[in-house]
Amino acid sequence: MTKAIDFNDPSLSLDLARVSETAAIACAPLIGQGDEKAADLAAVAAMHSQLNTLDISGVVVIGEGEQDEAPLLYLGENVGSGTGPDVDIALDPLEGTTLTAKDMPNALAVIAMGPRGSMLHAPDTYMDKLAIGPGYASGVVSLDMSTRERIEALAKAKGCNPSDITVCVLDRPRHENIIDEIRSTGAAIRLITDGDVAGVMHCAETARTGIDMYMGSGGAPEGVLAAAALKCMGGQMIGRLLLRNQDDKSRARSAGITDFDKIYSCDDMVTQDVIFAASGITYGKLVAGIKREPGFVSVETILMRSKTGSVRRLHLRKPV
Ligand code: FBP
Repeated sequence: MTKAIDFNDPSLSLDLARVSETAAIACAPLIGQGDEKAADLAAVAAMHSQLNTLDISGVVVIGEGEQDEAPLLYLGENVGSGTGPDVDIALDPLEGTTLTAKDMPNALAVIAMGPRGSMLHAPDTYMDKLAIGPGYASGVVSLDMSTRERIEALAKAKGCNPSDITVCVLDRPRHENIIDEIRSTGAAIRLITDGDVAGVMHCAETARTGIDMYMGSGGAPEGVLAAAALKCMGGQMIGRLLLRNQDDKSRARSAGITDFDKIYSCDDMVTQDVIFAASGITYGKLVAGIKREPGFVSVETILMRSKTGSVRRLHLRKPV
């Protein structure tokens, strides 16, 4: 019997940063070009080939979709050289395809890695999400509270007025009621057109981003990526799958989910220590976007480990 190799996260973390850097750099010529598909294909292909250079026995658990719809980085794909530790991989080579195509803020190349079995196999459905940054008592806000109650509870915990709170929300018709209720409390809203992984991460660095809380529904796979990020940065994220029809329910069943009403904490979505890397594609407050100058490209990456809570920002400039 071969001996299992431990998940040695410090030595793998720089390798992981290279994976997200490579995906981000592949998008560089496509920023603002109006072609979502081309940008996504470039990011996926680059992430796939760089990921396969790592000495891991990886399985994609959050990826580009089922094998019949995604030729690369599909759910269940084995990645890495196969010689290293057994790990789960959650990834989104291009989180924010439209943001990239239009050169709007906060498009990221994102990847998280943890020991095998550490990540929720979230189905391709929506998830109701609520997130706040570090420093608050556990459960200070919950999915069962109304929007107003969440804002009032957070303001009380922060020692400020509701009007001093800023909430980030995806700008979608389905969020009309939430948006109205937030406005009625006097709190500010940062509406984003896409990219709720970045939206949630903004809560963990309020001084830098001005965001206190994230709420609303978005992709469940993105929810697991955001939970991995907050597990490293600190803060709370809660999610509940939104299964709107039989199709959603059968996707959840196929992903092994039996309790459709479960409320997931960060630790439920990501049960063991992880490493997380996100590289900036378009400009943003968390990480700078890609910069191009004649003969060179630069990319910034946030690289984090939940075991130590370490958060590094790495700047890469390389010839192209
Ligand atoms: P992309 O797939 O274009 O990168 O979109 C990302 C995203 O904005 C996520 O951040 C978010 O979770 C989801 O799409 C929201 O879905 P919808 O556009 O259906 O509201």
